[in-house]
Amino acid sequence: MSHVRNFLSVYDFTKDEIYEVLLRSAVLKAERGAKNACLEGKKIGMIFEKSSTRTRVSFEVGIAELGGYPIFMSSRDLQLGRGEPIKDTARVLSRYLDGVIIRTFGQERIDTFARYFEKPVINGLTDLYHPAQILTDIFTVYEIKKGGAGVIENLKIVYFGDANNMANSWVSLQAALGFELVLAMPEGFDIDKAVRMESEKRGGKFLISNDKISAAKNADVITTDVFISMGQDEEKEKIDKLRPFIIDDDVVNNSKDGVIFLHCLPVHRGEEVTEGVFERFSQVVFEEAENRLHVQKAIMEKIF
Ligand code: CP
Ligand code: NVA
Repeated sequence: MSHVRNFLSVYDFTKDEIYEVLLRSAVLKAERGAKNACLEGKKIGMIFEKSSTRTRVSFEVGIAELGGYPIFMSSRDLQLGRGEPIKDTARVLSRYLDGVIIRTFGQERIDTFARYFEKPVINGLTDLYHPAQILTDIFTVYEIKKGGAGVIENLKIVYFGDANNMANSWVSLQAALGFELVLAMPEGFDIDKAVRMESEKRGGKFLISNDKISAAKNADVITTDVFISMGQDEEKEKIDKLRPFIIDDDVVNNSKDGVIFLHCLPVHRGEEVTEGVFERFSQVVFEEAENRLHVQKAIMEKIF
């Protein structure tokens, strides 16, 4: 059984470690191209049970830039995709690899893998959490605001839309760092019970609002995500409920001057954000996408 360091959710880092990651990400970004061989000789597996553009390429490039050797495995090509148990896959790959990044469905799948894999595991998205993305998002804010704990703790961050892995990730980050978090979502939508309990246990606080405009008031950061996540069925009824929570000019105009808009991508223009708002803020959104690389290199330095 494994007793190594994993990054399965934000809670695997202390608050101080999260700030260390932010600081280190800035250095890695500034020094991109400088020799860094911290993963020299390490073979890092990347098991993806869902599609990916950013996570796959940014981790693969990041591993290469740190001198390691990435091995990408889609579950379609692994026996895992034909029903080989995840605990057996973990015990086999443990004999070959020095670490793994996984994108999968339920959090219990990554927990099981980590239990049987004797090396470190990083979460590249589950149905529950997307921790590498959320550290990237707060790094993007930290870069723009040019400030650490004192600045971040005073922010109002508002997430609009589905109660999904990104919403959960904001909840976990709030519990870890402490800032004002509002989740603007339709009546009847709620955060996963386990995610809420974990946040409460750690003294986290967030508000769910069914009123988009009052939620937006005084926001420093506004953010959203797709209405239908990977692995979910396209339910017309769900989309219709979420539709009013689109980030549009009204949301932006009710937020603070200089508000930061974030989107983890891919975006569905006209669904969770209007084309106009998305394009107006696209420079920051694509910077956020680039930052995946720098932040994940900082995470990998700690974990692998
Ligand atoms: N944001 C994100 O994780 O993108 P991919 O699904 O393309 O990896
Ligand atoms: N909530 C989305 C995030 C994609 C990066 C999904 O899980 O599909």
